[in-house]
Amino acid sequence: MQDKTFLMIPGPTPVPESVLLDMAKHPIGHRSSEFSKILEKVYSNLKLIFETKNDVFVYTSSGTGAMEAAISNLVNEGDKVLSLVIGNFGERWAKIAKAFGADVEKISVPYGQAINPEDLKKRLNEDVNKEIKFVTLTHNETSTGVTNDLKTLCEIIRNHGAISIVDGVTSVCAMPLKMDEWGIDVLVSGSQKGFMIPPGLAFLSANERAFEIHKNCKRSGFYFNWDAYKKSVNANSTPYTPAVNLFVALDTALNMILKEGLETIQNRHKKHSLALRAAIRAINLKLFVEDDSIASCAITSILPPEDISVPDIRSTLKNDFDIVVANGQNDLKDKIFRMGTLGFVCDRDILAAVSALEATLYKLGHKFEPGSGVKAAIEILTK
Ligand SMILES: Cc1ncc(COP(=O)(O)O)c(C=O)c1O
Repeated sequence: MQDKTFLMIPGPTPVPESVLLDMAKHPIGHRSSEFSKILEKVYSNLKLIFETKNDVFVYTSSGTGAMEAAISNLVNEGDKVLSLVIGNFGERWAKIAKAFGADVEKISVPYGQAINPEDLKKRLNEDVNKEIKFVTLTHNETSTGVTNDLKTLCEIIRNHGAISIVDGVTSVCAMPLKMDEWGIDVLVSGSQKGFMIPPGLAFLSANERAFEIHKNCKRSGFYFNWDAYKKSVNANSTPYTPAVNLFVALDTALNMILKEGLETIQNRHKKHSLALRAAIRAINLKLFVEDDSIASCAITSILPPEDISVPDIRSTLKNDFDIVVANGQNDLKDKIFRMGTLGFVCDRDILAAVSALEATLYKLGHKFEPGSGVKAAIEILTK
């Protein structure tokens, strides 16, 4: 049915109607006082969301732009970077760092697992000469549906002295993430995820320690250069022409987020993922990440039944129910499907998705008790 699509991919995520309507207005001049007032609110609200006293820069780019900005403003050729890899996005940090000439070492785990803090501690303890200058890591690994214990990992990095560079693209807003309290040096995110607006903006916050290192970075590039953004944030401006309509959308969305409250939003994400996980188990499907303690509350990875293919599940959900779920990426393509519960998602959406998944599997011949997934979800949603 036209206009009924419900995106349950890990981004772009659904956008509230009030955000869409505000975005649809005529673009305003990016040097106008009207836009400057919007920027003032946006910059100050972003600090509340990042839980930091540092500035938050907004780039007109996708999340990867902010990842590149983190590396390009810090890393010199030959610098040693330790990349903690639990999936594709952890791998992306390593690729970007390599592209800037870093000497990259990885700690990798099989997909579906999180980094064991003891492994990181051991490696950093061995680094007695403090050769490792930067550690890159992913808070919520979207490709697998695993969440790292960021607080513990950043504490270990801080004790060693390296700079922590964190991908919070699918975790900011959705899960507890306290930049200053947890001693995170650089944190990046993207607009089309927990922020409930379309793709096109990326966020980066860096603390004083990171800025000190940045001073010695020989080639910080131009478009993403922190100095230009710092100057602009202080003047409630942007260095270049930004995606003005997305900033208007962001202003509306940030007001909604702060009105609902970060903690309430995070609890909602937790509850939704638990409800979905309970439903998946009840309908005799297997979760790719069995361990609830590392399972993402933004994205749930599910193994298909042995005799039913991921493309059949995805196409039936799309054609019969207008629900879009994601395939696995790279090696996990057609091995798992991923259901996002990120951003503007309510209890009704979860119940609709679980019933649609049940109907899909019923149609495709999977053996389970119809209604058992919905029942399991209801039990959690109504707790
Ligand atoms: C964890 C994570 N990091 C980075 C990115 C890259 O963001 P973008 O696609 O906006 O460049 C994504 C995108 O899905 C992501 O999920």
